[in-house]
Order: sequence, then structure tokens, then C-alpha cells
Amino acid sequence: MAILVAGGAGYIGSHMVDRLIEKGQDVVVVDNLSTGHKAAIHEKARFYQGDTRDKAFLSSVFEKEKIDGVIHMDAFSLVGESMTDPLKYFDNNIYGMIVLLEVMKEQGVKYMVFSSTAATYGEPENELIAESDKQEPINPYGESKLAMERMIRWADEAYGIKFVALRYFNAAGAKADGSIGEDHHPETHLIPIILQVAAGQRDELQIFGDDYKTPDGTNVRDYVHVLDLADAHMLALEYLQAGNPSQAFNLGSSTGFSNKQMLEAARKVTGKSIPAKIAPRRGGDPDSLVADSQKARKVLGWQPQYDDVEDIIRTAWAWKQSHPQGYGDK
Ligand code: UFG
Repeated sequence: MAILVAGGAGYIGSHMVDRLIEKGQDVVVVDNLSTGHKAAIHEKARFYQGDTRDKAFLSSVFEKEKIDGVIHMDAFSLVGESMTDPLKYFDNNIYGMIVLLEVMKEQGVKYMVFSSTAATYGEPENELIAESDKQEPINPYGESKLAMERMIRWADEAYGIKFVALRYFNAAGAKADGSIGEDHHPETHLIPIILQVAAGQRDELQIFGDDYKTPDGTNVRDYVHVLDLADAHMLALEYLQAGNPSQAFNLGSSTGFSNKQMLEAARKVTGKSIPAKIAPRRGGDPDSLVADSQKARKVLGWQPQYDDVEDIIRTAWAWKQSHPQGYGDK
């Protein structure tokens, strides 16, 4: 039986596939390559290029392959873009989920591990966000992921599709050997942008806002290594296959770093000066997003390997130095 990774050519998806194959799993990848990269897909995975919203395509993959479970990483995920083009997010993310659940139901596939997000919480009620905290997104991206979480819950009730929703905080870093990493076009994420400045590809970092309700006024985020995220998915699959009930887990480090602190950490890791200036706020950014991820540790037995943000940045820097232009295909 194979595991299907929807979005397996993406940043998190490619690390997921790599980890599954390392652990001896049989892996099928579906990706439309709209943001992913063919070169990021492990050569031992069977790759089908197509769109999750294309039901005939998706059904044909499930008919050819014996799929035991689905890891759903197949969504647009940029907070800023979702503010200016919300319908793009509702179409791809929500409609894509409807089609995937329909096909899973028709083909009798019973497990899904879903990439959800801290963006489903909106402005947090507490310093450390727990899974039971209120979910009131303040951007369309978070709204789309919350709707997807809710859809799977009802699909579980009605069709018995068991799920784990993993609410990631800020995915970061790369495989330590620098063979796969983060490559977005255009790049909008903090760490890769800082490293573009460090590599001389961009003049300066613009820090979006320094008047947030945080100690230094810049946004605070919780960075979690992409391979630690991948490990949590494998544990979640085992959890479901053991017959445990559907539920959601936060995945973060429980430590927040401000944008200014991230800049300082990157200066230290790279040894570069990295010019930066304060720029206006970007829409849709909550002040602070930091996880309480005790539940994943207790229930799933998740033990993240990376607990130092400088180590995380170091892996991203290794990728940047070995692949200054990313995969070079876009
Ligand atoms: N930022 C800058 N300058 C930049 C880029 C980013 O100041 O050039 C700031 C942002 O405003 C934000 C922080 O850096 O304060 C992090 O921004 P990212 O774009 O790297 O990440 P986000 O926190 O917006 O979102 C990421 C993922 C989402 C996920 C979220 C969960 O992209 O999919 O983390 O916390 F939902």
C-alpha cells in the first residue's frame, strides 16, 4: 500500500516525501507544479502531474495505485497573497479539498493527515496557543484552511474518513545536506528573503511593521524545522492506522522569535551584515503566533530534533549556498 502526498513537489511536501522514502514507505506524489518543482521530488516516488481539482485525473491516480492514506499538503499558503486574491485561495484550497474527499470516499481511503495552520487562529487569546483556543482567522488563507479542517470533520462523521489536522506554525529550514529546500517564486517568506540579502541577491530586508503589540514591535513567530514537521506527519499516520480518533495538533517549538530577532540570528549564522529597514505593515499579520505543542509531544510522541532557531537558519543557509537560484526551473 502507498501513501499519497498531494503537493509532494512543494517545499514541505518534498521534505515529507524524502522522509517517507527514507523510512521505506511506498510513495505516490500528485502535484500540478504550479508552485512546486519536479526536481524536488524524490526519484523513488511515483509522480503524477495534475490538479487536485481535476476529479477525473485524481480518480485515475487512485485507480492505478493502492492508496492507504493521504497526506494533504496541496494548498496555496501565502498570507499576503490571500489578502489581495482571496478567491484564488477559496478555489484552490477549498474546492481542491472537496474533490479529494469525494475521491477518497469513492475509493474507500480512510486516512488523511492534513496540513493546517496557525493562521486558523487569527489574533491569539493566549501567549501560547492551544488547540482548543478559538479559531477566528484574520486572513483568507487561514479562513480557507479552517473551512478545510471543518469539511474533513464532517466527512469523518458521514463517511468515516479519519484525519489528523496538523496546525503548523512557521515552517523553516531544509534537509541538512542541502539537497532540497525552499524555493518560491516570488519569495515572500522571512528567512529565505533574509538569506537572499545575505547572498547579495537583494539589497535589503524590509521589516513589515514595528508597531505591533510585541516586545520590540515586530511580529513574533514560532519557527519549526521542516523535517520535524515531516516526522509529525509520519507519527500522525501511525496514530490513525492504530485506530485512534480524529483530532488536531499544533506543531511549533513553543518559543517565539520577533522579525528583528530573526534578522540578528541570521546575521550571526551567515556572518553577513544583512541591511534592513522598517517598512509599512503587510495586511493580515497577527501580532504574535506561538504554539503550545505539548499535545503533539504527549499524544503522538513527537520529539522535534531542531530546538535552536540558529540551527534551523543554518540548514536554510546550506541550501541557499548550494542552490543560489533554487531549483533553477522557474
Ligand atoms: N516579513 C517581513 N519582511 C519580509 C517577509 C516577511 O517583515 O520580507 C515578516 C512578516 O510580515 C511576518 C514574518 O516576517 O511578520 C513572517 O512572515 P512569513 O511570510 O515568512 O510567514 P507568515 O507568518 O506570514 O506565514 C507562515 C506561512 C503560513 C502559515 C504561517 C503560520 O507562510 O502558511 O506561517 O504561522 F500559516
